[in-house]
Amino acid sequence: MKGIILAGGSGTRLYPLTTVMSKQLQPVYDKPMIYYPLSFLMGMGIREIMIISTPVDTPRIESLLGDGANLGISLSYVKQDNPEGIAQAYLLAEEFLDGDDSMMVLGDNIFHGNFEYFRKAVRKQMDKKDGATARVFAYPVNDPERFGVVEFDEETYKVKSLEEKPAHPKSNYAVPGVYLYDGTVSERVRNQKPSARGELEITDLNQAYLDEGKLSCEVIGRGMAWLDAGTPESLFEASSFVEIIEKRQGFKIACIEEVAFKSGFIDEVQLSRVLEKMPKSPYKAYLERVAANNIREVKKAA
Ligand code: DAU
Repeated sequence: MKGIILAGGSGTRLYPLTTVMSKQLQPVYDKPMIYYPLSFLMGMGIREIMIISTPVDTPRIESLLGDGANLGISLSYVKQDNPEGIAQAYLLAEEFLDGDDSMMVLGDNIFHGNFEYFRKAVRKQMDKKDGATARVFAYPVNDPERFGVVEFDEETYKVKSLEEKPAHPKSNYAVPGVYLYDGTVSERVRNQKPSARGELEITDLNQAYLDEGKLSCEVIGRGMAWLDAGTPESLFEASSFVEIIEKRQGFKIACIEEVAFKSGFIDEVQLSRVLEKMPKSPYKAYLERVAANNIREVKKAA
């Protein structure tokens, strides 16, 4: 399973914030936005990840995250010359995917909670025993007209319809920006026609899988927070949310080095090397505590 983060787009809804810094590099409380989708994919056990962004922002993201070696993962980068649709990611990533299954997350989508819903879907996607080769998720919201909307049979959970930002939504279930597809996805997008607004729509791609009876939809329960941070209000709310949880629990959300360490992608020695290079900061102090607690836990277990 390979991962994609789509982190381009013009970010006009955040103007003037996005004049010198792309949306996905804006702070969500104490770290750049892209840390959240990156730690999400890492939390799925995915170690080969491609980041797609604009020609201007790709080098900036690359200078932030590098090749991923310090996190025990492999990061590669591709530029999207123009924002010609979310599904275009699969044309840009075709060589990288090389026919493998993939999970894509949009760079402004933030998840917090029990990731087991998503991990289960990743496992199902790998074995495909249920016959589905594409998977989306459904999340209840108050404002479905802002999103892709899925309508499904209440008993069988079979998808009945999909619509992109409908004026009159058929359900209050939005489709979050996380998508699982099989190795045929790039070829499918190659055969897809741009929509009236000139974009390769992700909803049209999902519709193509649905038409063949190959789309499954998993409903996300109450225990999961899903935020998208594409407007000044939602960016501010996402920061407040992260601040509240982090202060209350003392744990950081989306601390990528911690996720790498806890996922076993890097060991103690590698973590201490990462720490050596980090400037003195509350972020570093937190990671030092993570490392020290781990030493205590190992000693206790011995
Ligand atoms: O957040 C979930 C929603 O994301 C889904 O429910 C919708 O079905 C889906 O279309 C999308 O809606 P948005 O209104 O958020 O789409 P937007 O055009 O803002 O693009 C989402 C992100 O993807 C954004 O961070 C920019 C990036 N993007 C978008 C396009 C169209 C790119 O990097 N390149 C692109 O060509």
